[in-house]
Amino acid sequence: MVIRIAAVGDVHLDEDVVGRFRPALEELPDCADVLLLAGDLTRHGTESEARCVAQEFGDLGVPVITVLGNHDHQCDQVPQVVKVLEDAGITVLEGTGVVLECSGGRLGVAGVKGFGGGFAGRCASDFGEPEMKAFVQTTKDSADSLGAALRGLDCDLLVALTHYSPVPDTLAGEPLEIYPFLGCYQLGQAIDSAPTALALHGHAHHGTERGTTPGGVRVRNVAHPVIKQAYSIFHLGDHLE
Ligand SMILES: [Fe+2]
Ligand SMILES: [Fe+2]
Repeated sequence: MVIRIAAVGDVHLDEDVVGRFRPALEELPDCADVLLLAGDLTRHGTESEARCVAQEFGDLGVPVITVLGNHDHQCDQVPQVVKVLEDAGITVLEGTGVVLECSGGRLGVAGVKGFGGGFAGRCASDFGEPEMKAFVQTTKDSADSLGAALRGLDCDLLVALTHYSPVPDTLAGEPLEIYPFLGCYQLGQAIDSAPTALALHGHAHHGTERGTTPGGVRVRNVAHPVIKQAYSIFHLGDHLE
């Protein structure tokens, strides 16, 4: 049995963009069991842009699960954004998880926005100024909440959904200097702490599609500018396509 997952990130919707994805989305019930959104749903995180997201991704005929991205935080309207999305039936994860009953089995999805911090040998450390300690603590807390959510799900197939990247592989194409702002190794450790089958993220518009965590979990950067389509589809079961 196979579970079919559609995924895209970084759609950055506003009044000018809304409607662009909808024709492809109308076909989702025929080809996917669920749609996962990897954050940066909006340009600036306003309530009105969230209504564009609700219009685009509401009433699709398949469950829609999302995490927020850094852009969705820009205008400090996160509670309003989340409410608009949830009123449209979209599940918003932040250090939390959900289990869906699919025809191919029980799909567990744990998600968190995540944060920067960098990767092995090139990462921020909680040393020195309180601002630096707070930065790294945010990284750690975010990854810890993802790990706990992943380990807490009782399911047949487990997927991790983040905005920031858990590995440097999928950042290839981005300037090396900004890697610490695109993801952190702690998210990869969290993903490896559970029997995760697939990890999806966005945020790295100029990155690369495929990567792997140190523990061997397949990672896919589904940022729209990377996949260059309305969504990618992953068939989870006997093998990953
Ligand atoms: Fe983005
Ligand atoms: Fe982003």
